Amino acid sequence: MTDARTDDVVADIDEHTVTDAVIASFAGTSDARLREVLGALVRGLHTAIREVEPTLPEWEHAIDFLTRTGQTCDDVRQEFVLLSDVLGVSSLVENINHRKAGGATEATVLGPFHMTTSPPRRNGESIDEVGGSEPCVVTGRVLSVSGEPVPGAEVDVWQADDHGFYDVQQPDVQPAGNGRGLFTTDGEGRFWFRTTVPAHYPIPTDGPVGELLAATARPPYRPAHIHFIADAPGHVPVTTHIFVEGSPYLDADAVFAVKRSLVRDFAPVDDAEQAARFGTVNPFRLAVIDLVVEPTGTPSS
Ligand code: BEZ
Ligand code: FE
Repeated sequence: MTDARTDDVVADIDEHTVTDAVIASFAGTSDARLREVLGALVRGLHTAIREVEPTLPEWEHAIDFLTRTGQTCDDVRQEFVLLSDVLGVSSLVENINHRKAGGATEATVLGPFHMTTSPPRRNGESIDEVGGSEPCVVTGRVLSVSGEPVPGAEVDVWQADDHGFYDVQQPDVQPAGNGRGLFTTDGEGRFWFRTTVPAHYPIPTDGPVGELLAATARPPYRPAHIHFIADAPGHVPVTTHIFVEGSPYLDADAVFAVKRSLVRDFAPVDDAEQAARFGTVNPFRLAVIDLVVEPTGTPSS
């Protein structure tokens, strides 16, 4: 026999009512943004669960995967960020937060290798301290979207070497700071440095993210690139890369960060006078990137 009073006070949760019940449970959250985020998260998660209807062993497998992802993280390894990267979430968040405003350089993911401070270097210095196989000069300007050069802007640079390794991955092979430099633009907004042409490389595959890539037959590689953060006074900093034209994996970046506007020809130059001006050997490769930043307070488009 049903007790009418009990019917009023006892919840009766089933697969059709649980989503609304969970969302309603957040009604007392005083932080409106937190309430919005939790509601959207629960709605999205429940939609996915309804779509795939996991078995209990499948659900246990998913929990185990996430548990091991957390257990793989330490001071120098962030497997959750890597998971976000390979699922395209980092790229999506980056794109939403840097909607292109009137010609600013497109932003792309920071990645996990900006974990150490870049050594300050003078324009023209080499960031390649070990002597890579393909000498290269990178030059460019920091410009405001109006086209005005920005003197005194900081340009932070980091890259893998010509074998596809960052200094922090090979502490016994590469000196700390190899492939990194913090430059300051001159009076005309220019920066330039010498380096070696970076190689494409695999993201770390020895953890749960590697298992996911293997299970989905996805290559773990990123196309060859150089990372930049341009930080100009009075402007929004931009975090971006340039990609080496012709590199493998430009069409299959494991972390979905390639934008056509960021692909650069690392053009071969055979010109002894130019090589001498840059203090490099002849012939060399030359890449040019203007980093265009938007003034702070610009509404995003
Ligand atoms: C990187 O380019 O350094 C990177 C970005 C995302 C995941 C792994 C590596
Ligand atoms: Fe990288």
